[in-house]
Amino acid sequence: MNFHILTLFPEMILNGLNTSILGRAAQNGVISFDAVNIRDYADNKHLRVDDYTYGGGAGMLMRAQPVYSAYEAVREKIGYRPRVVYLTPQGKVFDQQTAKELAREKELVFLCGHYEGIDERVLEEIVTDNISIGDYVLTGGELPAMVMIDAIARMVPGVLSNEASAESESFEDSLLEYPQYSRPEVWHGKAVPQVLLSGHHANIEKWRREQSILRTAERRPDLLKKARLTDEEKKLSTSR
Ligand code: ADE
Repeated sequence: MNFHILTLFPEMILNGLNTSILGRAAQNGVISFDAVNIRDYADNKHLRVDDYTYGGGAGMLMRAQPVYSAYEAVREKIGYRPRVVYLTPQGKVFDQQTAKELAREKELVFLCGHYEGIDERVLEEIVTDNISIGDYVLTGGELPAMVMIDAIARMVPGVLSNEASAESESFEDSLLEYPQYSRPEVWHGKAVPQVLLSGHHANIEKWRREQSILRTAERRPDLLKKARLTDEEKKLSTSR
């Protein structure tokens, strides 16, 4: 899967993404990161990418021309009109379901805004998905793009070394993950739950499922409405 990021800060994107698990996946050729500097496409000799807003008001706006030219360069390289995600607090809030859906694309373009935003006319022409990463305002779209790319990339086959782990974690089936423990068996006087030492796989599975339900009920009761629970599990979820 190829990620194309239209940005004024390509080094921020590449430093962030070429690290750890995603960096390894990129080295192995499973995914690729193409950070396109919007400034390189400005058609004026001072390479200006921002300008004042019509109607007045504070702040500058990113001009349509360099954004469109950068997009056109990517579109020509790809050979078709790709999905273009615009990072904006005005978008649909990103979640695991959306990450999974976007992970099916072969090419994905992210448009990162700065200043007070981008000229509406170019957004109308190129953006297919307006997405927010949460109800708060950031200074630019780079961090949200990196957050999204991390969540999407880990759903791409071959990015995680352990295929199973992409599925079995928090939000699968709308439940949070169960607590986990490693050595030693007792730490700061706290013992690892006995069932995990029993070697009895069915009991371990049952305990983990119960812990997921209890934890979700306690920390994210809003998620439980979407979870598919048996009658018994529903009772458990309201037991504390
Ligand atoms: N740009 C600024 N704030 C943002 C947010 N919360 N989500 C996505 N893009 C943004």
